[in-house]
Amino acid sequence: MGYKVVVAGATGNVGREMLNILAEREFPVDEIAVLASRRSLGTEVSFGDKTLKTQDLATFDFTGWDMALFAIGSDATKEYAPKAAAAGCVVIDNSSLYRYDPDVPLVVPEVNADAVLGYSKKNIIANPNCSTAQMVVALKPLHDRAKIKRVVVSTYQSVSGSGKEGMDELWDQTKSVYNPVTEVPPKKYPKQIAFNVIPHIDVFMEDGSTKEEWKMVAETKKIVDPSIKVTATCVRVPVFVGHAEAINIETEDFLDEDEARDILREAPGIMVVDKREDGGYVTPVECVGDFATFISRIRQDATIENGLNFWCVSDNLRKGAALNAVQIAEVLGQKVLKKG
Ligand SMILES: NC(=O)c1ccc[n+]([C@@H]2O[C@H](COP(=O)([O-])OP(=O)(O)OC[C@H]3O[C@@H](n4cnc5c(N)ncnc54)[C@H](OP(=O)(O)O)[C@@H]3O)[C@@H](O)[C@H]2O)c1
Repeated sequence: MGYKVVVAGATGNVGREMLNILAEREFPVDEIAVLASRRSLGTEVSFGDKTLKTQDLATFDFTGWDMALFAIGSDATKEYAPKAAAAGCVVIDNSSLYRYDPDVPLVVPEVNADAVLGYSKKNIIANPNCSTAQMVVALKPLHDRAKIKRVVVSTYQSVSGSGKEGMDELWDQTKSVYNPVTEVPPKKYPKQIAFNVIPHIDVFMEDGSTKEEWKMVAETKKIVDPSIKVTATCVRVPVFVGHAEAINIETEDFLDEDEARDILREAPGIMVVDKREDGGYVTPVECVGDFATFISRIRQDATIENGLNFWCVSDNLRKGAALNAVQIAEVLGQKVLKKG
């Protein structure tokens, strides 16, 4: 016997990827419902070798469904997640709405799988921000060995991180640079994204940081360890899929770069590709469609006593969203619901 699974936001970037990953990982599904807004009623989406028609989330009855994987943005989540949860369906949510709620676990299975057990207070489990998810997978094993005191991270985030509209804007603007007849002014982003980089993701906070940067700080503390200090600069780059991060860590105990490389090689969810030669590292286009978080360029930071630098790349629609959500569903199944 398998699960009755709902995918809400099935026409979006993350929703489509969740369907792909449920099929790829042969998640034990007995019945599946795909939902989106009324605008998309009847739109066809793929699930393995099947084609499914989307239903309207607004009129869907969650009674009798085991779990619902949500990827519909915070506003719609606010309206529909409590309804699904009240009907007894466990919500695994990709939006930021519940991430900082003390009664909702924020889970990256390689790091804090047991936190899933805290789902029952609200019947909701939160998935972290894409840039946090890939970073904490790498931080956790290093923290366990040498206790990380401080992290300095700069991100290079792809446009798929801001949904279908972000991808369309990069595509259309890139074409318009070659064919200036059709001007494509910035709409989704505050400045031109084609052939440019923008040091601004999400809204500005009072202290001058952005909400995306704040999320990396708050979520790392909730998932890994509240004592870790994080400072982040988040940058949108003209890449379609795949986030990259330059990460610097300062640890309590000395950690040699070779030992760090060995630890990361053994760590779940990580692939180390670190050859000190031309092309001996991973770039975003190479990580697309993969489950792993790739680590390259591991090296000592000689400017402090106990410091390391490394490069971290992952498919933001997978580990940063859809894969992590499906992994949470797997843990929920194994530890709690126990079907399949
Ligand atoms: N992209 C990433 O890397 C990433 C990473 C982590 C978390 N997330 C989060 O995942 C969520 C979805 O992101 P995305 O990139 O997949 O966005 P997207 O490509 O723009 O897709 C949005 C999806 O939500 C549906 N939707 C929007 N408003 C709705 C409503 N009122 N009722 C029902 N369905 C509604 C859309 O349906 P229609 O097609 O009918 O409009 C569509 O299926 C967001 O909360 C985002 O913050 C994204």
